[in-house]
Amino acid sequence: MATQYDVAVIGAGAAGMMCAATAGKRGKRVVLLDHAGKLAEKIRISGGGRCNFTNINAGPANFLSENPHFAKSALSRFTPQDFLAMVKKHRIGFHEKHKGQLFCDDSAEQIIDMLKDECADGGVHWRMPAKVQELQQNGAGYVLQTDEGEEIHAAAIVIATGGLSIPKIGATDFGYRIAKQFGLQLVEPRPALVPLTFDADEWAPFVPLAGVSLEVDVETGSLKGRNPTGARFREDLLFTHRGLSGPAILQISSFWQPGTPITINLLPEMDLAQTLIEGKGTLKKQLGNLLAQWLPSRLAEGLLQAHGFDPEARIADMKDDALRKLGRAVNQWTITPNGSEGYRKAEVTRGGVDTRELSQQSMECKNVPGLYFIGETVDVTGWLGGYNFQWAWASGVAAGLAI
Ligand code: FDA
Repeated sequence: MATQYDVAVIGAGAAGMMCAATAGKRGKRVVLLDHAGKLAEKIRISGGGRCNFTNINAGPANFLSENPHFAKSALSRFTPQDFLAMVKKHRIGFHEKHKGQLFCDDSAEQIIDMLKDECADGGVHWRMPAKVQELQQNGAGYVLQTDEGEEIHAAAIVIATGGLSIPKIGATDFGYRIAKQFGLQLVEPRPALVPLTFDADEWAPFVPLAGVSLEVDVETGSLKGRNPTGARFREDLLFTHRGLSGPAILQISSFWQPGTPITINLLPEMDLAQTLIEGKGTLKKQLGNLLAQWLPSRLAEGLLQAHGFDPEARIADMKDDALRKLGRAVNQWTITPNGSEGYRKAEVTRGGVDTRELSQQSMECKNVPGLYFIGETVDVTGWLGGYNFQWAWASGVAAGLAI
């Protein structure tokens, strides 16, 4: 049995549903396929179940890519305000939580229902669960075979199968395999927005701090020059049994290069060494009690122990050099992760289909007419905070309008 469509969208996640709905509402005959039993699991679990569906400040500067200009076109043609208009049209309550991050008041399920309704408005046909066993060019179009024995013919194919993060809810390398099949270059995929881990011996002194959380500055790489390789964020840090997590670490993990250090300022509002040296005459408390005024007490205690300071020492009796050493340990804690928690815990995948292969207006492959890549399959990765969904919506709309 063969069925003919204008477009087959493979992957019914954030980008795929948005693209299918957009193309369908333009009158295109669209079929949307997904191998999962449950629709859009990543949207469902996102934002702690409330889906941080966009960031009102989203702009190209919030994305990583080998070509930082690539995302500009799609992002400027479908903005956070455009997505918000859709959310409002569907009467979904939302609120801003932190730094422009917009969340559903009730549940991420509302975003899934909204996208399903939009697909219904576009008359989108569904195949789910359905696995694509083979995809081939067929004259001017494509033919794909599903595991249900169906043969689908389509003038255009959109690959929206996402990245590799969280394989247990259905992530696959399908997008990368198709890219290779059609001779496209890939930027090496890597876990991003992911907790970082440390060598067990090096981390041993910090294990008792698991659960401690505080706001820090964290940076990695070089921030100098016209094309800085690094980044700095002020966000919350969380100590875990194996290393570091929390928004600060997830953000910096996307920029971190294996083998290089990260530097954390645990007290970003204070130059600790200067405060202690200048306060030698007036700060009467013991070192441990003093530090616990400014840092979570468990952290203060743990840091003094890890760096060999006596918590009962009085700063008046301490050498300036020792206070400077403590200052560095707090204001410039430099450590080198040995890796990350990997795709099991990563929110997204960095890298993917090289943007040089794609048109930034339409997301169509420059050398393979009718083949499109959108969402996380592409080498465009957002910061933490609603940016990745905004890219999924914007790239989905760009392809949906172009097909
Ligand atoms: P997405 O992963 O959404 O969809 C891909 C679809 O393709 C899936 O339905 C999958 O089943 C299907 N598929 C895969 N392989 C297939 C195959 N071989 N055949 C057929 N179908 C296949 N972002 C954000 O902006 N705000 C947030 O709050 C969060 N929160 C968050 C929490 C957690 C725990 C994670 C893991 C991720 C986030 N994200 C996020 C990131 C966000 O979920 C992600 O960037 C988008 O879902 C990417 O959208 P895509 O449509 O590209 O892929």
